[in-house]
Amino acid sequence: MNSKLYQPHHHLLLLPFSLFLLFIKFLPCSSFDWYNNCRNRFNCGNITNIDYPFWGGGRPEGCGHPDLHLLCEGSQTKIHIKDVKYNVLAIDQDAQTLQISRDDFWDGLCSPKFPNTTFDPNQFEYSPIFGEIILLYDCAPDPPWKFSCPGRSAHKFGFITIGVTTWTCKSNLKVGIRRSSFDHIMDPSAMLEALREGFEVKYKMVDMGLCGECTKSNGVCGYNWDTKQPNCYCAGHYVSTGKTCPPPSSPPTGQKADDEIGTIPNFFLSVLYFVFTFNFNF
Ligand SMILES: *[C@@H]1O[C@H](CO)[C@@H](O)[C@H](O)[C@H]1NC(C)=O
Ligand SMILES: *[C@@H]1O[C@H](CO)[C@@H](O)[C@H](O)[C@H]1NC(C)=O
Repeated sequence: MNSKLYQPHHHLLLLPFSLFLLFIKFLPCSSFDWYNNCRNRFNCGNITNIDYPFWGGGRPEGCGHPDLHLLCEGSQTKIHIKDVKYNVLAIDQDAQTLQISRDDFWDGLCSPKFPNTTFDPNQFEYSPIFGEIILLYDCAPDPPWKFSCPGRSAHKFGFITIGVTTWTCKSNLKVGIRRSSFDHIMDPSAMLEALREGFEVKYKMVDMGLCGECTKSNGVCGYNWDTKQPNCYCAGHYVSTGKTCPPPSSPPTGQKADDEIGTIPNFFLSVLYFVFTFNFNF
């Protein structure tokens, strides 16, 4: 051991930090204040005041559905769905819709970074005025409406079609887009613009009716990632076993989420143990 490290003044510096670590260690996980944490809203650029079923930003995991994770990059909100990263352009929580656009078509049609736009149909569905086009690259033979790609692109040629494809191509890609742009599949710049405008999907993996019940009982909606069931977090660290919180006056029907009585002596014993070993070891 390096004796310099253990000079008395180093002890003094380390002590508060170590106590802090100990405190964190003995804080029971279940006492996490979901009620207050999940009251935080997600805010990023133009996307503001977003709550359940989304999580991310100041909203920890249990505040939302695993597949509705929002990220804030600069002031642009992003979401990952099945390995594809999208810009989130709008969220309508009443209609349960997301307007999203792939962020790999900002420089052109020729170098997509992500795989097919894919959804689990039990989780998302296109809003009626949106559908899918297929981008095809380096096919044999190319149709007359092909576009050529600039030098350092991932592909040499491409074209856009809808419906079934009969071409043999090196690569193909499904992407969501406004249906009215289907008329312009031979116009690459119009298609690029439509891709940037994105498309709308309805998210339907959560029952917002249940969340309404929870909110009405002054609870905060969340999601249990283990049981894959919605949660209702109530004031005072209760996680309701039903879908609503008990009225403040009546005895709670939920389970107490932590065990403070058992934890506090534990904590002080640990501190004592720590202080003793700390002072007499060196
Ligand atoms: C926010 O909205 C404005 C107006 O709709 C738009 O011009 C701007 O690009 C948006 N910013 C972001 C980061 O999406
Ligand atoms: C897109 O999906 C099709 C099958 O539907 C597959 O053949 C193709 O390789 C996928 N493209 C990419 C880029 O993942």
